Amino acid sequence: MKYEQQIFFILIDYVIIEQIIESVFSLYIPVRKWHKEKRLKGEGLMKREEIQRLIRIAEEQMSHAYAPYSHFQVGAALLTAGGKVYAGCNIENAAYTPSNCAERTAFFKAVSEGERKFSAICIVGGMNGIAVEYTAPCGVCRQVMMEFCQPETFQIILAVDEENYKVCSLRELFPFGFGPDNLQERDE
Ligand code: THU
Repeated sequence: MKYEQQIFFILIDYVIIEQIIESVFSLYIPVRKWHKEKRLKGEGLMKREEIQRLIRIAEEQMSHAYAPYSHFQVGAALLTAGGKVYAGCNIENAAYTPSNCAERTAFFKAVSEGERKFSAICIVGGMNGIAVEYTAPCGVCRQVMMEFCQPETFQIILAVDEENYKVCSLRELFPFGFGPDNLQERDE
């Protein structure tokens, strides 16, 4: 092979290698971005079986709901950072105002037992204890979550049954939420 031909093939090789590296990187960057976005949304952090276990606990809790006024029964299963689960149901009152949501019942049970770090909560609810659509936490419950949970990573599982559920982060359900960080003393 002539010297010029050798140079030509070396250059071709170089161009091909460069293209391979470039295409690997161009794939790698969007995949990394997608993973980061998924993490921010709080998705993909929990295994399906773990989610389904919480759904079963929340469903079971629904049957404990004390809801003689609205007949809307809600169950919640709150997962601590240490892996313990605290369950809660809604508890209504004839005077209406003292009524408590399932989510807050679970949080207050856990906090009163010394728990302070949480990773997820699952909520199931419906009229007469039959879930037909997602039951999203009310504004007051979202505020309570904001007190104890990291908005980017705390996962809120809204479930109809073990096969039909949606996972959101607290940040998604409570954007621009006010929390303990807002009360931090700042320099100057
Ligand atoms: N409720 C909950 O327990 N959690 C929610 O996420 C939404 C609403 C309760 C409060 C009340 O007892 C009944 O459902 C109807 O609003």
